[in-house]
Amino acid sequence: MSRTGALALLGGAPVRTAPWPAWPPVNDGIRAAARSALDSGRWAISGPVRGGPSLQQQFAQAWAAFNGVGYGVAVSSGSSALLLAMEALGIGPGDEVIVPVWTWVASASTVLRAGATPVLADVSPDNFCLTAASIARAITPRTRAVIGVHLHQSMMEMEPILELTRARGLYLIEDCAQAHGALYAGRRAGSFGHVGCFSFQQTKPLTSGEGGAVITHDPELAERVFALHADGRRLARPDPVTGLELAEGLGPMGANHAMTEMQAAVLLAQLEDSALDKRLSVTAQNAAWLDEALAGLGPLRPLIQPARLERRTVFEYIIALDPSVTAHVPSARIGVALSAELGAPWYTSDPPLHVSGLYRPGSRPRFAACAGPDRAPGDFPVAEDYAARTLACHHAVLSAGRADMADIVNAFDKVLNRLGDLEADKAGAA
Ligand SMILES: Cc1ncc(COP(=O)(O)O)c(C=O)c1O
Repeated sequence: MSRTGALALLGGAPVRTAPWPAWPPVNDGIRAAARSALDSGRWAISGPVRGGPSLQQQFAQAWAAFNGVGYGVAVSSGSSALLLAMEALGIGPGDEVIVPVWTWVASASTVLRAGATPVLADVSPDNFCLTAASIARAITPRTRAVIGVHLHQSMMEMEPILELTRARGLYLIEDCAQAHGALYAGRRAGSFGHVGCFSFQQTKPLTSGEGGAVITHDPELAERVFALHADGRRLARPDPVTGLELAEGLGPMGANHAMTEMQAAVLLAQLEDSALDKRLSVTAQNAAWLDEALAGLGPLRPLIQPARLERRTVFEYIIALDPSVTAHVPSARIGVALSAELGAPWYTSDPPLHVSGLYRPGSRPRFAACAGPDRAPGDFPVAEDYAARTLACHHAVLSAGRADMADIVNAFDKVLNRLGDLEADKAGAA
């Protein structure tokens, strides 16, 4: 193992060969919980009751309590959570919803699925989240809501955004797909807006492979989300003949966005003994340590976090390279070199939506009908600039020990000191 000498990518010895913590975080407790759900005879909330409340209901309540809100609904994905939140708030055709230009495509594609128009807004150069100023610039008389995404390893600065959305009568939907358990001024991500939406897809800090949740302080909103996620049904006393506890309701017509009992079991097991919170603390502490150590190398700039963010949740640890570096070697190539040194992927984050191949409202007639104005490269300079010169790694890497974090610093140091080798390696770059 070597922090000097040739780059591992070019045949040298890597900085590290030891493995990183595995992801997803399977353990005996999770295995036992999944097995017990499998053996229970009830695999879905739409299956017959077997004893107590469904695991889906138990998880929804536990997740609401974890986040300090009164109500939760467990759903099939983060995308379902966002779509159901909008539908429950009555957002639809003719409405505009402001979405950050730098996020996963679902933050915007779900607006189209709701029949509304996504209006993209640029992000802060400090932490790559929406700001009150960028939201204010995007507001029109048709704006009904803001989907505020807490991205990568940060949260939006909440106070000015809450003030603005309240003053302008806009719904605030927090997209917390990457921010489970983040703490801001004593409150969790997802508990500030009208509704908080989570994803439990495989890469997320809390995961069941796929899955999602909606949380809210508002009981009526929660009831509408529940009906919308269960084909319009509500929870009732189990039917004496069928044993089913989902009964016809008088709420809105819905669709099926339910998660399975096995997913709920796997999620509940990760909340046992505060396991999630403990892991989030480790990754947050390691991220803070890395920020300082990597900044000390010179051409790296960590995020500048909101003053009242007490504990970030790391979904991806992300850091910006100085333009003087990326002028010579593209960030993706530096990521490949770092990955070879460390044996863990370092990569460029998803591109901003207006230049993303995944965000193409024009590719489907029903989306084209509610697409916002055409956007071109150059329209969102902050997101474009940072997307082109940031590198990220998955949070599992940051759940290792402090000595392992030193390997990351050594790998950055080695690669940054050998940029000339990468530049000279035209064959590899091609
Ligand atoms: C910011 C953001 N919003 C929404 C989603 C959608 O979640 P899912 O993939 O569970 O539908 C994701 C997940 O990938 C995400 O990262």
